Amino acid sequence: MDSGTPRLGILMVGMGAISTTLVAGVAAIERELGKPYGALTQMALLDGAPMSEALQLPKLNQLRFGGWDIADGDAFDAAQRAAVLSPLLLRELEPALREITPMAGIHDPRYLRRAEGRRLKPQTNKFEQAEALREDIRAFRRRHNVDRVVVLWCGSTEVFSSPGPAHQNSRIFETALKQDEPTIAPSMIYAYAALKEKCPFVNATPTLTVDLPVMLELAEANGVPVSGKDLKTGQTLLKTILAPGLKQRMLGIAGWFSMNILGNQDGAVLDDPAAFRAKEESKLSALNHILEPAVYPELYGQLSHQVKINYYPPRGDNKESWDNIDVIGWLGYEMQIKINFLCRDSILAAPLLLDLALLSDAAQRSGRKGVQEWLGFYFKSPQVKQGHPEHDLSVQYRRLQEALREMARQTEKVGVRS
Ligand SMILES: NC(=O)c1ccc[n+]([C@@H]2O[C@H](COP(=O)([O-])OP(=O)(O)OC[C@H]3O[C@@H](n4cnc5c(N)ncnc54)[C@H](O)[C@@H]3O)[C@@H](O)[C@H]2O)c1
Repeated sequence: MDSGTPRLGILMVGMGAISTTLVAGVAAIERELGKPYGALTQMALLDGAPMSEALQLPKLNQLRFGGWDIADGDAFDAAQRAAVLSPLLLRELEPALREITPMAGIHDPRYLRRAEGRRLKPQTNKFEQAEALREDIRAFRRRHNVDRVVVLWCGSTEVFSSPGPAHQNSRIFETALKQDEPTIAPSMIYAYAALKEKCPFVNATPTLTVDLPVMLELAEANGVPVSGKDLKTGQTLLKTILAPGLKQRMLGIAGWFSMNILGNQDGAVLDDPAAFRAKEESKLSALNHILEPAVYPELYGQLSHQVKINYYPPRGDNKESWDNIDVIGWLGYEMQIKINFLCRDSILAAPLLLDLALLSDAAQRSGRKGVQEWLGFYFKSPQVKQGHPEHDLSVQYRRLQEALREMARQTEKVGVRS
């Protein structure tokens, strides 16, 4: 395992609510203004030792943040707009946040209809845009003196799309980039640039992005770990904890109705039916895979699973979700479970981003490449090489631990240069 230089660069595409909550959170924790609840890399033990020591992870003060955004302002402005953290805390962190001004991004209104591109690269050809993004990554490395950089896609959810002919391999994809092929979305251009620069790539959103044959080819060829899709934060997290237990007890489920109200910018984007479709796909798949209605038709064959997200501005980032589960017990008697989760979207997402950045880097240092299925623990639609992903949180956790133990053994063998 090559530990490289201790510093790690984290570049985020889209510096909105979740990204700025990560950056501000790390600054707050360094200043002892808060604790990293929710981050395994900071709080968990691995066989009795702190995970961060067992894996020789960079310390928080060794992280260097940057990113791209198509909206105006620096990270402080964006954090203020997102209104996740208290104004008082943000004021304390203002100097650290003002140091980060996102680089100009690339935008295609066909993929993101509810946002304006205000800070855009001058390049209009997709291949030239990719080259410009690659140069941004190299410049960031030089400026911060970091060898290793992880890229996190935290941009708005793009409209639903499926893999097409242009996404099949790197030769076709590069020709398609040069020809401005319309089925290549901005998120794919960022992913391509990151993989060409050998940066591990994490897709925090339900958008296709890195879940394409061309990206997997590049990840394997360049020795780059990739993972996605869509952070498992609120309602789906609870679903994947609860559903496996109900199934283990062989209780039937007639229906699972889930609704959410959300008032942040993400909620506004998901108000567009085409963007919601990408999210809906990601939210619906988990239950089906956990409950296996084809194997247990009597228990789950009639399951009606519905998910709604309503954009409701007064709530901002403080999402509220309701679940009604119609459970069937002995002799077919009906019962109901109601869950009301008053959560905070970005507060749940930020620690996952931190873990994913640190663990993707550790994976690359230990020679791992391609899809990192063991990171499925963190995602609603875990990316897999082939077949169906595992959704049961306890199984995902076991797989995560197995991979981490193996990486820790490698770390121990090689020792650290820091
Ligand atoms: N908050 C959660 O719990 C959670 C969970 C899972 C997934 N997500 C996903 O994470 C993403 C970010 O969520 P958020 O709450 O931070 O949203 P947000 O709207 O606050 O931030 C998204 C940012 O991305 C920028 N952006 C959009 N397209 C871009 C492009 N092409 N290039 C550069 N920047 C671009 C926007 O200007 C905005 O600043 C969303 O796709 C959301 O669905 C969030």
